[in-house]
Amino acid sequence: MSASRGEFSSRLGFIMAAAGSAIGLGNIWGFPGQTASNGGAAFVLVYLILAFLVAYPALMVEYVIGRNSKSNIVGAFGKISGGKHFKFVGYAGLLCATLILGFYSVIAGQMLAYGVSSVLNLIGLNAAANWAISGTTLPSMIFMVIFSLMTIAIVTGGVKNGIEKWSSRLMPTLLIFIVALIAFVFTQDGAMQGLKVYLVPDFSKVFEPSLIVSALGQAFFSLSLGVGTMLVYGSYMRKQDNLVTTAALVTLADVGIAFLAGLLIIPSMFVAEANGVVIYDQAGNLISNDNIVTQVLPVLFEKFGTFGGILSFLFFSLLIIASVTSSISMLELPVAHAVDDLNVDRKKASWVSGLAIMIISSALIFFKEELFGLVITIATQYLEPLVGLLLCIFVGWVMNRNTIIAELKQGNEGVEHSFFFMIWPLFVRFVVPVIILTIFALSFT
Ligand code: PHE
Repeated sequence: MSASRGEFSSRLGFIMAAAGSAIGLGNIWGFPGQTASNGGAAFVLVYLILAFLVAYPALMVEYVIGRNSKSNIVGAFGKISGGKHFKFVGYAGLLCATLILGFYSVIAGQMLAYGVSSVLNLIGLNAAANWAISGTTLPSMIFMVIFSLMTIAIVTGGVKNGIEKWSSRLMPTLLIFIVALIAFVFTQDGAMQGLKVYLVPDFSKVFEPSLIVSALGQAFFSLSLGVGTMLVYGSYMRKQDNLVTTAALVTLADVGIAFLAGLLIIPSMFVAEANGVVIYDQAGNLISNDNIVTQVLPVLFEKFGTFGGILSFLFFSLLIIASVTSSISMLELPVAHAVDDLNVDRKKASWVSGLAIMIISSALIFFKEELFGLVITIATQYLEPLVGLLLCIFVGWVMNRNTIIAELKQGNEGVEHSFFFMIWPLFVRFVVPVIILTIFALSFT
């Protein structure tokens, strides 16, 4: 069975794939945007705290369930004793992954359109370039479909020859691109002002409920938690690998790249301002999210002529690389469920799931006004933390303690006597659920 399920070939391969899943639009598009609209460094501070206090323990929960059951989020509860009553959590995760991939492919398609458009501009096809990024239905559909096909093609290759191979190629490329772009931005006027907004917190904002709610949603989304992605990747992890340190490295990689993305984008906004681009909205707040990536930066790139065209191509390639290593991890969820539990062939499972999700993406394009924001909010601010909470409750209160210890000990003999083991069980039972529930309550105030 495990031979047909697949396994990552090494610890590094696993880290590349898991970091690839974590690092995505959430880091490069979402995190800087959230930072800009939530008071700069105050948001960064709360985010970092929640990433380590809540997201890391929750990540460990997914890895423990995944590697122990060697199954996907739906199948896992059938295999671990006491899991029967939690099967609905598996389906909730599956639903959440489907919704997220639905909107994710639309945004990633848009990034692809911008990347292609910068090439078209470079070769003088300006009309086509403008059409690609017009945001109208036809180009949105075309680029969404191309992006989805890329995702499906990689997932059909399987765990080792698809997911691991592509993540290992693309993640180092992403790091090189991001560092090169930061180096360039810091040679420009205005960058230092941006750096200050990014790094000096306004402590009066740290306790704003809306900031805390956004930071939790962001931490879950960014680490791909509360859907079962990390759970299924954990199920492909080799038994001899150390879960505790591997999960810590994945968290650090994710937080590190989000931090670098902020270092790129917030200063870029101020460079844009120094070049005459408006970066504040009417209310005097920094404009955020898609407006940064689709309005501020393109205008900035334009100011640099041909060189700007190359910068633009680099930047959007960065976003596409980040997106595809995440989208494959989402598609892996229904695919693993079909392969593990329904005995479907991987190729067929990938195509059927991929096409079904394309239908959802199309609906989001056609009913953008009504559905887009709503689906994002439901999936990322409510469903993900909720599923994450239930997974913690399962491991903290239901799953057999000896099974958990035995799982953690594989690849980490002395774990019972480690600092991690002194506090993680307490976090999973009490601290994480209380924080999630409190933040939920805050979101309704
Ligand atoms: N973590 C990814 C990102 O930051 C998004 C994601 C969410 C991927 C949930 C898988 C599951 O873009």
